[in-house]
Amino acid sequence: MKETATLWWDDELAGIRYIDQTLLPTKYAIVRCTSVDRLITAIKRLEIRGAPALGVAGGYGVALAANLCTEVSLNAFTRKVQKESGRIRESRPTAVNLSWGVDRVLARMLAVTDAASAQKAALAEATAIAAEDTRCCHAIGDYGAALLPDPCTVLTHCNAGALACSTWGTALGVVRSAVAAGKHVKVIACETRPLLQGARLTAWELARDGIDVTVITDSTAAHIMRTGKIDAVIVGADRITGDAVFNKIGTYMHAVCARHHGIPFYVAAPLSTFDATRTEREVTIEERGRDELAVMGNRTLIPDGVPVKNYAFDATPMNLISAIITDTGVVRPPLDISALLSENNAHSS
Ligand code: MRU
Repeated sequence: MKETATLWWDDELAGIRYIDQTLLPTKYAIVRCTSVDRLITAIKRLEIRGAPALGVAGGYGVALAANLCTEVSLNAFTRKVQKESGRIRESRPTAVNLSWGVDRVLARMLAVTDAASAQKAALAEATAIAAEDTRCCHAIGDYGAALLPDPCTVLTHCNAGALACSTWGTALGVVRSAVAAGKHVKVIACETRPLLQGARLTAWELARDGIDVTVITDSTAAHIMRTGKIDAVIVGADRITGDAVFNKIGTYMHAVCARHHGIPFYVAAPLSTFDATRTEREVTIEERGRDELAVMGNRTLIPDGVPVKNYAFDATPMNLISAIITDTGVVRPPLDISALLSENNAHSS
């Protein structure tokens, strides 16, 4: 199986290179990004997307801002980089990994005493985040693979794969690790309206790796769960608070349906996606533009003047989750995320 990175730092370019995910599956293009403005556009347009990949992008974004900053005095340098970092942090609100990546690199940068060392420290920390993400995904994959029966059919939503991370994936990392261990796994990918991350990205990366994948409309999921065709649902997460899992809009309906039909519903996510500092009500669910629903290619799908609601994410309450597969193990109900984070010294306050 290929382990191509989704985004990385290019020394020669002095910038970030990434796969433009808006063009897949018809075009595979690598973008060269050398400005903070371009990175912010890439994040907003979902050229780079998926929570762990946003964490890596946030980290590299701070490194890029530091690299571009010409201020010599440490105070002026720090103020400028902090300002740019704030803009990166705000570019998408729901996935906590983005602010986590930005803040982690900023903290490392602030621990040094001159601008040149700060630039080096920022890049070193961002690179460490990317490498750690790969390690986390493999750990999640190994823990999760053990939960799957052989053979099995897994339903997933959106794209929680290599493209959403540095490499390998969280939910799809579980599938990849199970397949690598010799299990026979089929994947049902929900298309994931309106931006079709399931149809375009999950199907693309699994087919590339020779993993059996079939795409369904989102509204087919209940039918195939009811007719006994699904052994487990596995999704990723954008943020896990003490009371809910935030993930792509539509995740909650799969969780309700899985519970109704006695199908295990697993969430696969690294500890960097956990946020014990907020509750569900304190998290902003991103709302995106009307055209994502109203326009498809050259066609208008919704009459002019009719408004839409285009929530990018929803929240699934903990009581619908069978287990969370993390990089440090599988957590089963009662899901106490503060305890989990303090056991692992992760960000709980
Ligand atoms: O809007 P997107 O494409 O960034 O949404 C991505 C998801 O909802 C993923 O399921 C989530 O980030 C987990 S990725 C491992």
